[in-house]
Amino acid sequence: MTASQQVDVLIIGAGAAGLMCAISAGQRGRKVLVVDHANKVGKKILMSGGGRCNFTNMYAEPDNFLCENPHFFKSALARYTQWDFIELVGKHQVPYHEKKLGQLFCDNKASDIVDMLLSECDQAGAQVRTHCSIESVAYDTGKTCYLVKTTLGDIAAESLVVATGGLSIPTMGATGLGYELAEQFGLRLLPRTAGLVPFTLSKEQLAPFASLVGSSADVRISCGEQSFRENILFTHRGLSGPAVLQISSYWQPGKDISIDWSPDRNLMDFFQQAREERPKAELKTVLANLHTKNWANVFCEHWLNSQPMNSYSDKQLQALADQLHGWTILPAGTEGYRTAEVTLGGVNTDDLSSKTLEAKNQPGLYFVGEVVDVTGWLGGFNFQWAWASGHAAGSFA
Ligand code: FDA
Repeated sequence: MTASQQVDVLIIGAGAAGLMCAISAGQRGRKVLVVDHANKVGKKILMSGGGRCNFTNMYAEPDNFLCENPHFFKSALARYTQWDFIELVGKHQVPYHEKKLGQLFCDNKASDIVDMLLSECDQAGAQVRTHCSIESVAYDTGKTCYLVKTTLGDIAAESLVVATGGLSIPTMGATGLGYELAEQFGLRLLPRTAGLVPFTLSKEQLAPFASLVGSSADVRISCGEQSFRENILFTHRGLSGPAVLQISSYWQPGKDISIDWSPDRNLMDFFQQAREERPKAELKTVLANLHTKNWANVFCEHWLNSQPMNSYSDKQLQALADQLHGWTILPAGTEGYRTAEVTLGGVNTDDLSSKTLEAKNQPGLYFVGEVVDVTGWLGGFNFQWAWASGHAAGSFA
């Protein structure tokens, strides 16, 4: 194959990680081309954060990330931190605010972030082409370069960066190309599943919650050792809301999740006090103070037997308190990639350099962003990994 175009660095995928990689490589004087099969760049950035892009988190630290090797991502995250990205946002005068828990969102539109990245690409001399599909990728060992057949012509590149993202929201252009390329070049893959995704419940499990659909409650949710304090939302299909999205990344089919409906208040104390102060009041009236009247009615009708408070013994009150502090449910499944924000698993980090994101056994081949087995919590952490890994590879590719 003779290439119609020759570049130093070819990046497949003009999303968050690919564009950041292009900026860093371009700033080093490398001739960079980013190609994407979509009709526009950064589609996931545009739809993220409800259209306002939660672009990073002020409190990002290693504990906020999941990876088979819990040390792998530390180096890249330390070399391009949330403060580096915040500085870039400031340089471009993109207005933003903290919504909660250190989550930074654009004041206006997510397109401010895409415009900023494209302007940086332009200044760094990196070219970006959309509507470009990849037909094949080969490595020429003699010339030590990659030969990539695309619908826009053949491209030869010294370094090839795979920034094709994960599998979530296929309608937005997600494909498995990154995983296929990893396998083609002998890198191992870890099983992929939908993360940051709502739970589905069976018909029988859903029935009691019918009148609660659309309402939310502040809870502590746990799965195994991991727990999150956030809101849970009842939906037509099951359970959602930030608490559920967070814990879904730690859940496996067949595992129970546990919900503490009163994360701040010791319910035994609360019930004993209510029994003393309002002996004739029914449990459902007392419980209405915890969340809503409707919530209390549903729980009393289906799981707790509502009686006047003075009819309960201490033992019975303790049992009720235990039930509500550690209410367990077995999700039927998740909504899958159709609505998931991220893909867990992916390219095995054992086969990548944590410093450069280059494949250990394939010179000049890099993997960045979500295609790699690094997943962040909800709250801007996934973009921070995209920026940091893109920057790390762009500093060496
Ligand atoms: P990304 O998916 O951004 O980019 C991959 C690119 O590769 C795409 O442009 C795609 O078209 C291209 N591509 C794929 N296959 C290709 C092929 N075969 N040929 C050519 N090009 C190809 N995170 C966060 O931190 N804060 C937030 O607010 C949100 N919100 C959010 C909302 C929703 C609805 C979703 C689905 C996701 C989020 N996320 C998020 C997660 C975040 O969007 C995600 O982790 C990053 O976009 C990952 O960046 P990448 O660059 O790795 O992939």
